[in-house]
Amino acid sequence: MKLWQGRFATPIAADADAFNESLSFDKKLYKADITASLAHSEMLCRCNVISESDKIAIHDGLKGILSDIENGTLIIEGQEDIHSFVENELVCRIGEAGKRLHTARSRNDQVATDFRLYVRESSKEIISLLKNLVATLVDMAQKHVHHIMPGYTHLRKAQPINCAQYFNAYSEMFLRDAQRFCDGLKRINVMPLGSGALAGTSYPIDREITRELLAFDCVSQNSLDGVSDRDFVAEYLFDCSLVMAHLSRLCEDTILYTSTEFGFWEMPDAYSTGSSIMPQKKNPDISELVRGKTGRVYGHLMAILTTIKGVPLAYNKDFQEDKEGLFDAEKTVKDCIAIYTSMLQQITLNVKRMEIAAAEDFTCATDVADYLAKRGVPFRTAHGVVGKIVRYCLDENKTLENMSLAEYKMHCEIFEEDILSVVKAKNSANARTSVGGSSRASARAGIKSIKSRLKKLRY
Ligand code: ARG
Repeated sequence: MKLWQGRFATPIAADADAFNESLSFDKKLYKADITASLAHSEMLCRCNVISESDKIAIHDGLKGILSDIENGTLIIEGQEDIHSFVENELVCRIGEAGKRLHTARSRNDQVATDFRLYVRESSKEIISLLKNLVATLVDMAQKHVHHIMPGYTHLRKAQPINCAQYFNAYSEMFLRDAQRFCDGLKRINVMPLGSGALAGTSYPIDREITRELLAFDCVSQNSLDGVSDRDFVAEYLFDCSLVMAHLSRLCEDTILYTSTEFGFWEMPDAYSTGSSIMPQKKNPDISELVRGKTGRVYGHLMAILTTIKGVPLAYNKDFQEDKEGLFDAEKTVKDCIAIYTSMLQQITLNVKRMEIAAAEDFTCATDVADYLAKRGVPFRTAHGVVGKIVRYCLDENKTLENMSLAEYKMHCEIFEEDILSVVKAKNSANARTSVGGSSRASARAGIKSIKSRLKKLRY
């Protein structure tokens, strides 16, 4: 029997029932639903809307249901949604008192409250996973603070950089992601319970009591908005989408750097896959999958934005569509962060190969131009001189490192002996001591700053 069967002459058609149901996916909300009902009934009792004995019966009943679900003796099935399921089960167990639980409440403010409790918990779990990922990147940065690699623009070698600076760049991204989830908590943690179906309630309830019991920061200020605000879902999905964007960039680097063409990183065997036909293959499937899964998370963001856009005030059943996408995005993001954290811990760096690569392809050309500019040559003129030097090297099959001082002087009289140390890749990287730059000192400062911001995350 439906909770709402009273006014209907016939039961719902089987196909309509199957189409309408949400229990198959919103059963994930069982704990949030019971938690909110415990608080709601406590509040009803303190406000003298229900009796103490009814409240005790309701609490005992709800706690029994929770433990039976958790120990597997109660299977969640046979009802339209999780709210109907819990209420129905409660009435079966405790009778009349159970029928008082839904006083001064609607499934509309109930589901909005349950979902916020769920998304609040989930955000915290993602923040904690992101913290582990950043801690792993910090470990890698610390381990490689004495090593250099080529830095790229346009996927062409640009300037030598410190390896730690490279890992710090990803730490910055994932730290921002964690901060974004922390910030989102402010807007998630608003309690709609007490909004009723749409218009509030005439019972003498005290929303402050439920707010405190459920540890919400504040109560929603408009009941129409309270039951129909799904901004927090869109925001959570956007935050997930950016995590995936950042992971996907890291995947792309991993795939490139572990290729034999680059040869910078070695994929752990334990996180690689083979080919059914080519015996020699060692494929980066994990990275490709994470990169590929980015698409579905973006899809869920687009879906909720589209679902919300045409919905008139207040609650409409369209909002039932807010859950499956979020659950899928949640699982995807959590799985991807976790697997990448584990895999990174086992990736090894071919530091020799990276150091050699860092010196190739005239990566210190900017340093030569800077050398002249620091000695009075206008930078644009210096740029032109060095362009000619590069041309000369290409024609004569030379490098900036093996050119003689005489050859440098041929292009500009200002060059002195010290130019030969300026064009060493390590010196080039270490010369960029600006805040956040490629020097070892800057990278070390970056690590320190990341660690301190990681510690300061409040959620
Ligand atoms: N399963 C519904 C949802 O997820 C619960 C709220 C139902 N409310 C209603 N008026 N039919 O949105």
